[in-house]
Amino acid sequence: MKRKFIALFGGLLFTVMLSSCGGGGGKTADLANGETIYNKACIACHLKGVAGAAALDDTPRWEELAAKGMTTLVQHANSGYTGNYGVMPEKGTCMDCSEQDLYDAISFMFSKAGVEPKQ
Ligand code: HEC
Repeated sequence: MKRKFIALFGGLLFTVMLSSCGGGGGKTADLANGETIYNKACIACHLKGVAGAAALDDTPRWEELAAKGMTTLVQHANSGYTGNYGVMPEKGTCMDCSEQDLYDAISFMFSKAGVEPKQ
């Protein structure tokens, strides 16, 4: 069980390392941290798309988000954002999250959705 998890996770990390090579620099995502943050704070809305949040299996929504670029997405997650779908609460309710934590959690969600974000 644990082994399986590590193998799966290693695969994910590898994918991100590969994709970040083509990204032209910028920050690197710590997906392990991202998963922890996601499970703590973001899963409530972003797993199934509660209250208008982008569900992890909603690929077109993540493609739409990818086009905005990570810089904008992290800013919106950090200070809260009201768009066409609903209200994203400030820091996604994770009040002790840093911008890097949010960056990691967003990167984790992109990896789950199978979409590659822009910087
Ligand atoms: C209470 C529900 C809720 C929680 C919890 C939540 N979100 Fe959201 N989030 C939303 C909704 C709703 C939207 C869509 C807003 C819109 O586009 O109308 C959204 C949108 C976003 C966006 C896109 C912003 C943009 O510019 O379009 C990002 C990035 C995001 N959330 C990240 C996170 C992260 C990271 C967490 C956890 C730390 C989180 N969210 C937790 C409801 C939530």
